[in-house]
Amino acid sequence: MNQAELRVVTIDGPAGAGKSSVARSLAARLGWRLLDTGAMYRAVTFAALRDHADLTCDDELGSLAERVSVRLANGSVYLDDEDVTGRIRSVEVTRASRYLADNPRVRARLVRWQRDFADDHEVVAEGRDQGTVVFPQAFCKFFLTASLEARGMRRFAEFQARGEAIDFETVLGDLERRDRHDEARAIAPMRPADDAIVVDSTGLSLDEVVDRIEGVVRRRLESIKRPQTAVGR
Ligand code: DC
Repeated sequence: MNQAELRVVTIDGPAGAGKSSVARSLAARLGWRLLDTGAMYRAVTFAALRDHADLTCDDELGSLAERVSVRLANGSVYLDDEDVTGRIRSVEVTRASRYLADNPRVRARLVRWQRDFADDHEVVAEGRDQGTVVFPQAFCKFFLTASLEARGMRRFAEFQARGEAIDFETVLGDLERRDRHDEARAIAPMRPADDAIVVDSTGLSLDEVVDRIEGVVRRRLESIKRPQTAVGR
């Protein structure tokens, strides 16, 4: 596949940079579907914890991912048809998710679901490896980041809103550990794609970030479509 993938915008980046909110808002503005790949890793993690799977056993996690099914529909996340949307955001699932995210069989399975999801839809795909591994031909790629402090405050507010008792220092420590881990992962490490635009959301409102990203996407769509119209296609 050499052609640019015109139906896919990717937004990768570390935890707490605002990817989910930005991707959701951008998808709504474009009228495209949101592919929240972190939710997929979280749903499989939730299944592993519920099954009391040995998180250090690669085979066990690989078979589990091949046994269950995860589906995103109408803003909800389904694990084998059970709505797990709220339960996958807990501190416990967040911490355990790295074991699943490091597993090659789990990743292979999830990458298939992700590409299937985008098969017949225009999507805004968010995660860690969307621009580098899953949709390398995406026509518009972003890497959204922010200072550790700003990301920690966002995550802390999210946990507080959910009524989870956790202190700010712990949130910061967890974030730092997760970043280091995501960047150092042997398979699909988190990094900006060579052709990604890096956006720093520190000090910007959600709308300011989305305005900036939407502007780039629309300009690029226009410039790609214009020459085709000119030659009568
Ligand atoms: O973005 P998030 O916090 O919901 O991600 C949950 C976990 O899944 C986290 O450990 C990172 C991992 N992840 C990944 O490895 N690749 C992705 N494309 C998305 C998430």
